[in-house]
Amino acid sequence: MMAEHREHERLFLMHRKALLDRDLPRARRAFTEFATTLREHAELEERHVLPAYAEAGGDATDSPPAQILKEHDKLRNFLANLDRRLAELAEPVDDAELLDLLDAEAWLKNLMAHHDLREGRAVYPFLSEHLDEPSQVRVLETVRGARNPTDP
Ligand SMILES: [Fe+2]
Ligand SMILES: [Fe+2]
Repeated sequence: MMAEHREHERLFLMHRKALLDRDLPRARRAFTEFATTLREHAELEERHVLPAYAEAGGDATDSPPAQILKEHDKLRNFLANLDRRLAELAEPVDDAELLDLLDAEAWLKNLMAHHDLREGRAVYPFLSEHLDEPSQVRVLETVRGARNPTDP
């Protein structure tokens, strides 16, 4: 799951590069791919990883499941907000508006970095330490199954 964070960063960067090129159609397409991937990732964590984390004792840590949920909600709010701003952006893109949008995106970038640290240093290491191996395999397989519902 942590490897997927690198993929989110890559997709977000592609979108930002397209914005710098002032190529709005490409920037919107890249943003949609980025946002869809990130939303799906957070949803799978909420449905399959956080329950296992709570069961393994995550509530007693300083990164409880409720905190992860709160950050996911913040991420989703950012995505919805940027989605709207991108849709409203007119061509040719005005310098001030472009800079404003990039500033707003920097907040999302920071939140992603913060969330990455929280999951990478707290949630996933805690799970590998406190969840027995068969349960870890089960969670990962459930996530994989949810992603590819046609897999046997
Ligand atoms: Fe994650
Ligand atoms: Fe997450």
